[in-house]
Amino acid sequence: MAYIKKNNRLSLPERFATPVSVYVNRRGFLKSLGLAGIGSWFWLNGCFGNGEPAAQGLNSVSQTIPAAIPPYPLARNPLYTADRPLTSELVAAAYNNYYEFTTDKDQVWKLAQGFEITPWKIEISGEVHKPLTIDIDDLLKKMPLEERVYRHRCVEAWSMVVPWSGFALRDLIKLAEPTSAARYLRFVSFYRPGQAKGQKAAWYPWPYYEGLSMAEASHDLAFMATGVYGHPLPKQHGAPLRLATPWKYGFKSIKGIVKIEFLRERPKTFWNDLAPAEYSFSANVNPAVPHPRWSQATERVIDTGERIPTRMFNGYADQVAELYRKG
Ligand code: MTE
Repeated sequence: MAYIKKNNRLSLPERFATPVSVYVNRRGFLKSLGLAGIGSWFWLNGCFGNGEPAAQGLNSVSQTIPAAIPPYPLARNPLYTADRPLTSELVAAAYNNYYEFTTDKDQVWKLAQGFEITPWKIEISGEVHKPLTIDIDDLLKKMPLEERVYRHRCVEAWSMVVPWSGFALRDLIKLAEPTSAARYLRFVSFYRPGQAKGQKAAWYPWPYYEGLSMAEASHDLAFMATGVYGHPLPKQHGAPLRLATPWKYGFKSIKGIVKIEFLRERPKTFWNDLAPAEYSFSANVNPAVPHPRWSQATERVIDTGERIPTRMFNGYADQVAELYRKG
């Protein structure tokens, strides 16, 4: 999922080969780092690149992880578990998609660190009885907070399992009191090219924007994440507020949200506008429908490198299939 501007027109190169497989394609890779074997350090050096010593690189990733100040860590809701082990936290924090900063997944964690997330206001507007603009800290005080373990499946066929902290999107919907005309939600990310140099790439229609139907947004699984692994979100994961819709491809999980609008009509979405034949509005995970440039039948687990079968709705079919039953 990438665009490179070539000959003044958009083209779609095959950027699917991901360098991360080179360094994380090994079981227990973090464990081996803990043991600090010479081989491991050397091999990790390739991971962080730029000639940076591996230990320093790893240390830097861990320094991007905020302290677990209250209300974190939150109690884990036992209703939301995954049938796979949690992904190693530092791997998840060092392998990101956040095009506002860079298209290089292993560089986002570095480039996002200069991004200011305090203060942070969120505008809730459109077809609602209670429009409001609220600071993220005040919003957190109004929401019932919990931790949920979710699977995450990127459209690029990599996956992870992470414990998000936050609140159900439907609780935010209740707060806004939508009018009967509201049928869709539109989410918008920040626009700050001074701090996010990827936004200087004029061939992307910044800021990032996404959408859900009201039925999807009101579904129990739709979650607003403010933290991960028991502490506030690191910047590279979309701090201070991102969406998590685990039955959909990861590009629906918009990061750095500043605005949520309730609409009568279906909104446009960033990737669908860029490449409608490749990224749909609904973007539900479906192993039987290949991406035009690659299969979606399997996925690569980012910390072990293991290839596993992809599941319908990313394993959430029992909960969400009903939303899409016709007639
Ligand atoms: N949100 C914004 N604002 N910008 C982005 O580039 N990338 C999406 C999604 N949300 C993206 C975004 C994609 S493609 C994925 S797979 C997930 O974020 C990645 O989330 P992670 O980096 O926290 O794993």
